[in-house]
Amino acid sequence: MSNQFETIVILDFGSQYTQLIARRIRELGVYCEIHPFTISAEWVKSISPRGIILSGGPSSVYESGAPHCSPEVLDLGAPVLGICYGMQLLSYFEGGQVEASARREYGLAEVIRQGRSRILDGLPEEFPVWMSHGDQVVGAPPGFNVTAITDNALGAMENEAKQQYAIQFHPEVAHTRDGRRVLENFVKGVCRCRGDWTPASFIESAVNRIREQVGDSAVVCGLSGGVDSTVAAALVARAVGERLTCLFIDNGLLRLREYEQVLEGFAGLGVLRVRGVAAGERFLEALQGVEDPERKRKIIGHTFIDVFEEEAHRLGEVQFLVQGTLYPDVIESVSVRGPSAVIKSHHNVGGLPERMHLKLVEPLRDLFKDEVRAVGRQLGLPPSFIDRHPFPGPGLAVRIIGPVDADSVRLLQASDNIVQEEIQRAGQYDRLWQVFAVLLPVRSVGVMGDQRTYDQVVAIRAVESSDGMTADWARLPWDVLDRIARRIVGEVRGINRVVYDLTSKPPGTIEWE
Ligand code: XMP
Repeated sequence: MSNQFETIVILDFGSQYTQLIARRIRELGVYCEIHPFTISAEWVKSISPRGIILSGGPSSVYESGAPHCSPEVLDLGAPVLGICYGMQLLSYFEGGQVEASARREYGLAEVIRQGRSRILDGLPEEFPVWMSHGDQVVGAPPGFNVTAITDNALGAMENEAKQQYAIQFHPEVAHTRDGRRVLENFVKGVCRCRGDWTPASFIESAVNRIREQVGDSAVVCGLSGGVDSTVAAALVARAVGERLTCLFIDNGLLRLREYEQVLEGFAGLGVLRVRGVAAGERFLEALQGVEDPERKRKIIGHTFIDVFEEEAHRLGEVQFLVQGTLYPDVIESVSVRGPSAVIKSHHNVGGLPERMHLKLVEPLRDLFKDEVRAVGRQLGLPPSFIDRHPFPGPGLAVRIIGPVDADSVRLLQASDNIVQEEIQRAGQYDRLWQVFAVLLPVRSVGVMGDQRTYDQVVAIRAVESSDGMTADWARLPWDVLDRIARRIVGEVRGINRVVYDLTSKPPGTIEWE
C-alpha cells in the first residue's frame, strides 16, 4: 500500500499472535503492516512508519539461527515497542541480560507496576496479563527503567529518551484485559497517530488506486456469491463503473437455488453488471467417478478456468481481472500457521491470470476479513451479502464424500437447505462461522412405517471461529438439532440417519475433505 496513511510496521518473529497485533492496532484506526524480520532497515525507512513493533516468537535470542532483525531498524527515529521475544531482542541489542527462566510462564499472570510509565499509563497498579515465554530479561539495558514486574520475571521496561518500550506479556490477546489500552498508549500516545484508517478513507484511497492502475481498460471479475469477491467487485465498480463486467458461474455445486438467488441479489444491487453462466452439467461430467478430494478440486479449478475464459472472450478486449485476495493470504509470514486452510484454498482458480494474460486488480489485499465486511457495509451492500458464511470454491463437491453426481448433489442440496432454514429460524446463523451438511458414502439400516430402509447418512457440521484457522464445534441447542434431523430424514428421500460432528480444529478440519 502506498504510504498515505499513518503506518505502524510490525516485524514478525514467528509468534502465533502476530496477525492479532495488527488487527488490534487497526481497530484503533491506525493502518498497520506485517513484514518478516529479515526486511532491510532502508525498506522500513522508505515507508516512514510512525512506530515499529517487534513481535513475539518461539526462539531464544542467543540460539544459533535465532531471528534477529537488522539493529539499524531501532535507529530510524521511529518509536519501538518490543513484545515478548521482541522485548528480549531489544534488550539483547541494547546491552541488557536475557536468560532462560527458572520457571517457564504460560497463561495468566499478575503484573505489578513500578513507577511511572508511558506505555502503562492509565492501567491499575496490578493487572492480569497473558504470558507465553521461556526466556526473560533479567537485567534491563542501560538507560531503561523497569516499569513492571511479575513474581517471576521482568514485566515491562522503557527508555523514554530513545522512545524504546518493551513488555513481556501479550497485549493483543483478549486475556490481557487492558491490552488495548497498552497498544493505544503506544500507537496514539507515543507514536502520535490520530487514527486516519477508516472504511471510508480506505474506500476513497482504493478507488483512486484502482483508477490509476486500470486506466481506460476493461475489467472482468468472477463472483462466487461470497463476501470477498462481492466487496472487491463493488469497489472496482465504484472506480470504473460500466467498464467492469462480473461473471457468476454455476458449477452445479452451489447450494439449493443459490444461483438464482445470488443473481437476483446482484440485480437488486444495481451497481454491478453481472452475467450468469449456467455450466453445472459440464462440471458434473468432468467429475464423473472421481473420489479423491484433491483431484476433485483440481478438476473443478480447471473447468472453472475453461468456462471463465470462454465467457470472458465474449466480452472483447479485457486486460484486468479482479480478485478478492485478502491480507492473510499475502503476508510473507514466518508464523507457524495451520497448514490446511492455506494448502486447500489456493487451488480454486490458480493459473487463470497467466493463461489469459490478465493483470490482477486486488483491492482487498491489505484487509482482514472483518475489515472487508466493514468496507462492504460502508459501500452499502446488504447484510445478506456481508454476513454470509464462507463457502468453499469447490462447493458441495468437498462435502460429498466419494464420487459426485446429480443424485448426490440433489440429496446434499436438500439436506443442507433444511440446515440453513432451521439455523436461520432459530437465530443461530450469525454466531456461527459455518454450518452445513455433509453427505457420507455410508448406508445404514432404518425403519420407516412398516418398511426397512437402507439409506445414506448426513453429518451436520457447525463451528464457531474467528478466522477459520482454528474452530470449535458449536454447542447448538438440542431442539434445533432435533428439528434438523427430523426434517432431513422425513423430507429427503434417500437419507435415513443424521449425525452431529463433535470435532474441533485442530485436530479436525472444518470441511470433511
Ligand atoms: P478447513 O477445512 O481447511 O477449512 O478447516 C478452513 C476454511 O477454508 C474453507 N475451505 C476452502 N475454501 N476452497 C475454498 O475456497 C477450498 O478448497 C477450501 N477448502 C476449505 C472452509 O470452508 C473453511 O472456511
